[in-house]
Amino acid sequence: ARDLTVLGLETSCDETAASVVRLTPDGAATVLSSVVHSQIDDHAAYGGVVPEIAARSHVEMIDGVVRRAMAEAALDYDGLDGVAATAGPGLVGGVMVGLSFGKAVALARDLPLMAVNHLEGHAVSARLGARVKYPFLLLLVSGGHCQLLEVRGIGDMTRLGTTIDDAAGEAFDKVAKALGLGYPGGPALEKLAENGDGARFDLPRALLGRKDCDFSFSGLKTAASRLAHTCETDQDRADLADGVQTAIARQLSDRSDRAMKAYAEQHQHRLFVVAGGVAANRTVRSTLEATAAKNGFAFLAPPMAYCTDNAAMIALAGAERLQKGWVSDIDAVARPRWPL
Ligand code: KG4
Ligand code: ZN
Repeated sequence: ARDLTVLGLETSCDETAASVVRLTPDGAATVLSSVVHSQIDDHAAYGGVVPEIAARSHVEMIDGVVRRAMAEAALDYDGLDGVAATAGPGLVGGVMVGLSFGKAVALARDLPLMAVNHLEGHAVSARLGARVKYPFLLLLVSGGHCQLLEVRGIGDMTRLGTTIDDAAGEAFDKVAKALGLGYPGGPALEKLAENGDGARFDLPRALLGRKDCDFSFSGLKTAASRLAHTCETDQDRADLADGVQTAIARQLSDRSDRAMKAYAEQHQHRLFVVAGGVAANRTVRSTLEATAAKNGFAFLAPPMAYCTDNAAMIALAGAERLQKGWVSDIDAVARPRWPL
């Protein structure tokens, strides 16, 4: 057993990212570099990610982003043990750029290739900032996904619940758009909510009576977007932003509470992890932290930089796969959909 140093590539949405991560035999991870080029400016005028523009921008940026990641890690390609690339789920034109680049590096340098599921990357992301050991209960909340997972290790996860319509990040983004905030909406809505008091709004509370761990955000999204158009003052808008943020945090906590109770009946260990872009939201974090404490669970979230899309999480997932000898074929395909 020896250290494994892996180059990771992430191009499934609107960030072109590359990172080098080192994994020790006993599972400790060190980020040697993490470069993220955000395409926000390319898409801002359209109010959301345009797939065709994203794919073209990845083609333009990836070479420079990878060079920077290698330089910042102070490595040449001989120092690598493998290459990992996101192979889905995501915008397939972008996924193909990173995956093809990864294949080219693997072929040229005779390195193993690991085709990584983007969600698996988010699932391991908390291990980039702290010495997190498996297993744990995970809430994965991003722009495209909202799931509760039992994580026993890399490639060994069971889904306990998922959204039956929209993801939480999508709700943040859509309501933010209706409030006239720019894209991406989540961080802007959080900022606006700082001066708001959402208590005056009676927003829908989804799936309250159900016993499962599923989520639903479309009712909230629709109701809040409608209310957004009736807002007249900045105070109205701030109040609504706060109301929506609170409602999302509350639903995430309510379902996580159920999952913790079910999990605790079957397992001794008590660690709850939240990951994904929405985990960057402070109200979401603090509400979940309180719920975890109430259930006797330790609480952990990745450092902010590893909540939103990045390549360090892909490099780490790839390194953990390589450690198990799970290498992908060079003809691995890009998958727009790929459930865990
Ligand atoms: O994980 P991520 O970067 O990409 C996906 O895999 O989807 O998540 C992006 C999502 C977006 O919906 C964005 O609005 C949301 O995460 N987000 C936030 C915050 N930062 C990012 N939502 C609420 N508050 C934030 N501070
Ligand atoms: Zn993501």
